[in-house]
Amino acid sequence: MAAERPVQPIIGEAPVFLEMLEHVSRAAPLSKPVLVVGERGTGKELIASRLHFLSDRWESSVVKVNCAALTESILESELFGHEAGAFTGAVRTHVGHFERADGGTLVLDELATISLRMQEKILRAIEYGEIQRVGGSETLQVDVRIVGSTNADLRQLAADGSFRQDLLDRLAFDVINVPPLRERLEDILPLAYAFAINMASELKRELFAGFGARASSSLLQHDWPGNVRELKNTIERSVYREPDPNKLITRIAFDPFDTPFQPSTKPAGSTSPLRQKRAPLLPMRLKERLEETEKEFLRAALEKSRFNQTMAAELLNLSYHQFRGKLRKYGISSQPE
Ligand SMILES: Nc1ncnc2c1ncn2[C@@H]1O[C@H](COP(=O)(O)OP(=O)(O)O)[C@@H](O)[C@H]1O
Ligand SMILES: [Mg+2]
Repeated sequence: MAAERPVQPIIGEAPVFLEMLEHVSRAAPLSKPVLVVGERGTGKELIASRLHFLSDRWESSVVKVNCAALTESILESELFGHEAGAFTGAVRTHVGHFERADGGTLVLDELATISLRMQEKILRAIEYGEIQRVGGSETLQVDVRIVGSTNADLRQLAADGSFRQDLLDRLAFDVINVPPLRERLEDILPLAYAFAINMASELKRELFAGFGARASSSLLQHDWPGNVRELKNTIERSVYREPDPNKLITRIAFDPFDTPFQPSTKPAGSTSPLRQKRAPLLPMRLKERLEETEKEFLRAALEKSRFNQTMAAELLNLSYHQFRGKLRKYGISSQPE
């Protein structure tokens, strides 16, 4: 029997996310380099693995290196290996990641920080499939597919001279943009439920009761600057802090440092524009101002939900019928103008 491909399950149903997954499926079978670009926590590593497991290299190794975590000399011997005696402490021959990934995929995670000298060596390895171990004289032939991932703007870095344009051109044969979580509201609750159910089972609970309506609505309203990673941590913390498995989760623990004793000091700019306060200009016509504000919020919710009215109602913690009623009252169109 043929072995199963160990493709990790990925949760997401937002149209932009599905489009991105299709792009991944199209790019996967080629042996050309691919760049996976997106904010921190969007799932770039998951996508890099998927590129490997959907390719016909899937039975060979996928090797991941976090380039940001290593100094230049360590990165060099990690990637290319070294011969015994190459430098003090190099007691034995060390086989590098390029050799270990032969026939498979090498994922260069957070590659924006790689030094220019290492970039040059990597470019050579990609262009000619040739590497040399540190301290070695033999040229080794490798067949490795490179997937790079970064949250940095590589074009800007290339313009500034800290990233080689020729390497960027080579890596960017195809670029996969992983959308931030705030651009795919549809995915927030399915991800939240999946993370909550996993956490409940990790806590040996037989059941996850679900999220209360206000809790769900606050999940949808949050901006998620840390994307799926932040959502995962937030949900796990919230489930863990509710000791009764039969109770709905009503409190989302967004900030682990929050205490009931002192107001949390959020960094400036972390609140969404809807939550920012303006000093009121007095005198004013209160009723009209409130109606204006209500209209503004209804439109903002429609826009944020891309005119999905169920979700827009949820964003405002209204029932669908209440929401529809308000649109009618103000004559607001439920379609993009
Ligand atoms: N679509 C998704 N479905 C399930 N889990 C996800 C998804 N996207 C991200 N994750 C999880 O979120 C966390 C962060 O993902 P990761 O790939 O490390 O992000 P990045 O490399 O972009 O910072 C990981 O635990 C990952 O498993
Ligand atoms: Mg990562």
